[in-house]
Amino acid sequence: MSSSNDPRLPQAGASDESLLAAHEKMLGKKPDEQAHYKLLPLVLLFVFSGIIFYAGTYLNHFSGNYDPAVFDEHGHSASGNAAPVKLDPIVVGRKSYEQVCSTCHQSTGLGLAGVYPPLAGSEWVTGSEERVISILLHGLKGPIHVKGVAFPGAAAMPVFGQVPGSGYNWSDEKIAAVITYIRQEWGNKAGPVTAEKVAELRKKEGDRAEWSEAELLKLP
Ligand code: HEC
Repeated sequence: MSSSNDPRLPQAGASDESLLAAHEKMLGKKPDEQAHYKLLPLVLLFVFSGIIFYAGTYLNHFSGNYDPAVFDEHGHSASGNAAPVKLDPIVVGRKSYEQVCSTCHQSTGLGLAGVYPPLAGSEWVTGSEERVISILLHGLKGPIHVKGVAFPGAAAMPVFGQVPGSGYNWSDEKIAAVITYIRQEWGNKAGPVTAEKVAELRKKEGDRAEWSEAELLKLP
């Protein structure tokens, strides 16, 4: 049977020409004008890369390292160099006091009769800087007199300094802030205490046990 007599060819309606054209298309010799897509113009590739690069640099410059302390929606600085946040020691001190000290000494600073001595009007608080810092750094144990009232020392004042194995491990700044706060709250009128002074005493006193009243009285 010769191919020209094949009855399937006329049925398919395919002429030699159309078959050739179809093959040429498949071989990619001729661009297909019927399909409505083209390669992305190369110039757009450069435009998009440029935009992405710009966005990256912009984000890198103005993100402030995604630090919540840096972000200020009402800020006006366009430089991206945020000024270091200066915290008010009274605000920081009050917060620490309410979180920790008030459990024993109460929010009123009046303490608890016979157990927790008052800080309001206490000569230990408003007097010698060195004594009050020392009490915070290393704690206090045994009987003590506050405002002429004897406390038997049934409970102990915790250690807030960095003492191996125990203590609250508070930083010099945090200790200075809480002391600064109690020295001016509840009608107390004593000056602020600096973190430098706390650091100095921390170094000088080193690793030691809780103070007694007699030992504290020997401090300047
Ligand atoms: C677990 C309870 C407790 C906590 C918490 C506590 N204290 Fe005390 N504090 C005491 C006791 C008890 C004494 C008295 C110790 C003694 O009798 O020897 C004392 C004594 C003191 C004194 C010296 C006496 C006086 O009344 O002036 C100061 C100052 C002081 N505490 C400050 C603080 C500060 C500031 C904090 C928080 C950072 C704090 N305390 C947290 C229990 C506590």
